[in-house]
Amino acid sequence: MDIQMMHTCFACLMDCACAAASSNQQQECNLLESPEVMGSGHTIPSKNSLAHCPSTCGDIGFSYPFGIGHGCFRQGFELICDNTTHPPTLLLANTTTKVIGQSGRTLEVIEIPAIAFNIAMNNSSIIDYIRYWVSPANGFTIVNESTLFVIGCGIEACLFDLDTNETMGSCITMCSDNLGIMEMHDGDCTGIGCCHIIVRRELRRFWLKLDHPDDERTTPRSYRVLSRAQVFILPTINSYQFNTNDLVSSSWMNTSSIGGTLLRGAIMDQETCPGASASKATYACTTNTNCFNATNGGYYCSCHDDVTDGNPYVNLGCSGDPGTAYIFFSMYAYYPCVATGF
Ligand SMILES: *[C@@H]1O[C@H](CO)[C@@H](O)[C@H](O)[C@H]1NC(C)=O
Ligand SMILES: *[C@@H]1O[C@H](CO)[C@@H](O)[C@H](O)[C@H]1NC(C)=O
Ligand SMILES: *[C@@H]1O[C@H](CO)[C@@H](O)[C@H](O)[C@H]1NC(C)=O
Ligand SMILES: *[C@@H]1O[C@H](CO)[C@@H](O)[C@H](O)[C@H]1NC(C)=O
Ligand SMILES: *[C@@H]1O[C@H](CO)[C@@H](O)[C@H](O)[C@H]1NC(C)=O
Ligand SMILES: *[C@@H]1O[C@H](CO)[C@@H](O)[C@H](O)[C@H]1NC(C)=O
Ligand SMILES: *[C@@H]1O[C@H](CO)[C@@H](O)[C@H](O)[C@H]1NC(C)=O
Ligand SMILES: *[C@@H]1O[C@H](CO)[C@@H](O)[C@H](O)[C@H]1NC(C)=O
Repeated sequence: MDIQMMHTCFACLMDCACAAASSNQQQECNLLESPEVMGSGHTIPSKNSLAHCPSTCGDIGFSYPFGIGHGCFRQGFELICDNTTHPPTLLLANTTTKVIGQSGRTLEVIEIPAIAFNIAMNNSSIIDYIRYWVSPANGFTIVNESTLFVIGCGIEACLFDLDTNETMGSCITMCSDNLGIMEMHDGDCTGIGCCHIIVRRELRRFWLKLDHPDDERTTPRSYRVLSRAQVFILPTINSYQFNTNDLVSSSWMNTSSIGGTLLRGAIMDQETCPGASASKATYACTTNTNCFNATNGGYYCSCHDDVTDGNPYVNLGCSGDPGTAYIFFSMYAYYPCVATGF
């Protein structure tokens, strides 16, 4: 890596101007629009009308707006249980995305296996390692405050919103020549062997750029560390405790044992709350609820504060008067980018 490139990289960390630096390596993403799905009306269900619906798949429980089978889910929240596998596999309908749990009180949130990238950086002809992630389904975003962790030595990471190219954050990892000093930092991820980026918004697609300048100051010589980056996204800064073993081990971390990434699904019949609540026929929130705008379009419902375990998407779910609603929907399908040619 030459001096000019080093300067570009460190400038990147200062203001994260990576986007311009790597324009030639960007991949456009295919956005495939499917025809509108109209006329598939549903009422806001009652507890009774949902009584026959499955509520588990294997040992994974879920509740409305998610559901399996006709009349059991809000459009956009269909799940499929593949019970030919052991244990059965729960999938977000029309995707290959596995669902490994639903997140308690926030009923639109599901847990999926951690979004993770294992990147071998031993190819000297590659300067920037670029990875993309695109939400598996319309309306689904990585939850606010999710944290991207980067494990490695001498790695600079920049994270961008793929919709806007806005910088979501950057971080750098360095390693000490002294393994004992490294181990003293076990438990925190603040630049020694591990760094993190907290994403303070809901993100539906991103691109990630990693540089590996292989600077003497950032790469240890007294013990062997593979030239690689292990990157994953977990719900909060506290979801992962750095361990030097994860850095020096000869095998990749087992991403299925580090936890999952949380995705939140917005109700997508209208762009914002005012429009949604004006369209009584499609409004998803029952009585005694609040409506919140989702960052990338759509909305969420929640029970008023005094109702602790209600379901704002089910009739009388937060207590109140019965009502009837119909949903009309338009649906888009996103296909993940495949980064080639770097
Ligand atoms: C983001 O940046 C890349 C590279 O600079 C560019 O090719 C792309 O058009 C940009 N996208 C948007 C939405 O601005
Ligand atoms: C498997 O799932 C189907 C529906 O998806 C259901 O009809 C069937 O009873 C299930 N089998 C078992 C063993 O749970
Ligand atoms: C999703 O799959 C179901 C069948 O599993 C199909 O009826 C429905 O039209 C699909 N939805 C979209 C938006 O492709
Ligand atoms: C690059 O690193 C990966 C894993 O770190 C290893 O499997 C692979 O053999 C290495 N390739 C070369 C050419 O050294
Ligand atoms: C994300 O969380 C931060 C901190 O709680 C908050 O200030 C911000 O408004 C949130 N953004 C969204 C889009 O919810
Ligand atoms: C990874 O972790 C999962 C869950 O803890 C476990 O079931 C699986 O066997 C592990 N895989 C490897 C290769 O260690
Ligand atoms: C949602 O967004 C609309 C349009 O920007 C705005 O008028 C409205 O006040 C917002 N509603 C809430 C609950 O934030
Ligand atoms: C290294 O990257 C270049 C450019 O992408 C590619 O042509 C080459 O095959 C790669 N080499 C290895 C060993 O992966």
